[in-house]
Amino acid sequence: MNTTISKIAGLMMLTAALLIGCGESSDDENSNANSQGEKQELTDFEMTHGIGPVDEEITIDEIDPELAKEGMRVFDMKCGACHKLDSRYVGPPLGGIMNARTPAYVMNMILNPEEMLAKHPVAKSIGSEYPTRMTNQQLTREKARAVVEYLAQESR
Ligand code: HEC
Repeated sequence: MNTTISKIAGLMMLTAALLIGCGESSDDENSNANSQGEKQELTDFEMTHGIGPVDEEITIDEIDPELAKEGMRVFDMKCGACHKLDSRYVGPPLGGIMNARTPAYVMNMILNPEEMLAKHPVAKSIGSEYPTRMTNQQLTREKARAVVEYLAQESR
């Protein structure tokens, strides 16, 4: 008697579990496909402006000479060991970089080089031309912004 009831109850639970299981697994397949697609492909924003803390477009119209001067000082201290403006060194020349990349992209490269080099197709391909990896110089966002002002000045 008890065993029959528990067998029936067991069967009902099994059926319920199977039904729920089916529902869940088809949902899961859909959401997995979506989230994987999003994880592997960068957004349009990230393709243009890089991956990192700078998640909005930065525009530079007129060069602010004071900011550019501060950027030059930071560049000499934190970047000059690996970069020159006009020739290849440990890293690529940066004299014309602002004609090739957006300000936000360069800021993200400065602030988040590890992830950029791991995930961004442009950074990966530049990286493949250099045996050394760019290291994070731990700049504040403000200092990175100043460096970009300097590089923009030098790119004009
Ligand atoms: C330890 C050496 C090193 C230091 C320090 C360094 N970089 Fe780099 N940088 C590299 C290398 C090498 C690459 C090429 C990518 C790679 O392999 O890491 C690179 C790539 C870059 C790129 C990408 C260029 C492109 O064409 O997209 C930018 C921009 C850049 N560096 C800016 C800077 C700035 C600004 C600083 C200072 C805050 C700096 N780097 C400090 C070595 C360095």
